[in-house]
Amino acid sequence: MNLFEVYPLYDIEPEKGVGEFIWDTKGEKYLDLYGGHAVISIGHSHPHYVQKISDQLKKIGFYSNSVHIPLQHELADKLGSVCGYEEYKLFLINSGAEAVENALKLASFKTGKKKVLTFSKAFHGRTSAAVEVTENMAIQAPINKNGHAVFSPFNKVEGLEEHFLQGDIAAVIVEGIQGVAGVNVASEPFLKQLRGLCNKHKAVLILDEIQSGYGRSGKFFAHQYAGVKADIICMAKGMGNGFPIGGILISPDFEASYGLLGTTFGGNHLACAAAAAVLDVIKKENLMENAATVGEKFIEELKLLPGIVEVRGRGLMIGVEFDFTIEALRKNLLFKHKIFTGNSSNKNTIRLLPTLGISYASLDLFLEALKKETALIA
Ligand SMILES: Cc1ncc(COP(=O)(O)O)c(C=O)c1O
Repeated sequence: MNLFEVYPLYDIEPEKGVGEFIWDTKGEKYLDLYGGHAVISIGHSHPHYVQKISDQLKKIGFYSNSVHIPLQHELADKLGSVCGYEEYKLFLINSGAEAVENALKLASFKTGKKKVLTFSKAFHGRTSAAVEVTENMAIQAPINKNGHAVFSPFNKVEGLEEHFLQGDIAAVIVEGIQGVAGVNVASEPFLKQLRGLCNKHKAVLILDEIQSGYGRSGKFFAHQYAGVKADIICMAKGMGNGFPIGGILISPDFEASYGLLGTTFGGNHLACAAAAAVLDVIKKENLMENAATVGEKFIEELKLLPGIVEVRGRGLMIGVEFDFTIEALRKNLLFKHKIFTGNSSNKNTIRLLPTLGISYASLDLFLEALKKETALIA
């Protein structure tokens, strides 16, 4: 049987990973500054993570949400103590798009409304409502185009209230830092304005922290730099360090009732063991602090390089915009220098999403490679 081929592939087959490095089947070693798309938060094959998942698998890997699963409470406790939202409730699913679907559904249940205010270049996933609030018409099928999304310019405060005055906005959804768009940080005035307007017009403020959350920005959630609180926060990617898990944090203003939400796999034993291990490591190895300090220094050093128009981001979510398209540069970084980087919908921007424990020494490897490549282009 052939695969349904939707992914353009690099001719590389990774077979081992340790920390910020991976090795392919030919024995080549690569520096991973992409983290499998912001997923590898605590590093590849972290021993504590491997141990916790292996131990759990030997006991029980899965049972449905019809029985007690104490690991879910352990995960919620650990999350509550590090994320700044201790009084919120946790609902577990398996992916980012599912987190967004459930957040939007809850907002619609609560307000009885259908429209969602979302922003230019937003990416929230590929399932029905998530893709509808994503500003990429090429990935929306006719079945996704239901007129629920109202798009407004990202980071533009002027004119925002006009959308609410129509009276049909159930929710606002915004990324703490836009990822797929090329790393655009949601500004403090923008987030504060959204918070104020959601309060005034009784709409639900949803922060999509699927890419920018879990310590990547140097705070647990990127929007916490703006000092605002969301009503629902979406999480996935770094939450399981590669084990599929997603979650939403739900404000105490929402009331749960049996059957309101549900999932077969969400919150299973293995996923919870993986996610709890991730939080143990984030705490024990001070990974949020590492992301903040290493990221800050790295951003400053990147700004000094030639050919760079702008360096955006916070912590270890970094967009480097060049004065040329980056496709060839990324290929050279990968095949000549053995460094994985990410791209974005901004054709001139490289996205860096390394493990939160990355060392300065590894980032220096990237700086040296970049200097050589940009010198060749100049
Ligand atoms: C901000 C954001 N939201 C949602 C998603 C969708 O997550 P998933 O691919 O796990 O469905 C992504 C994935 O890239 C994302 O970056």
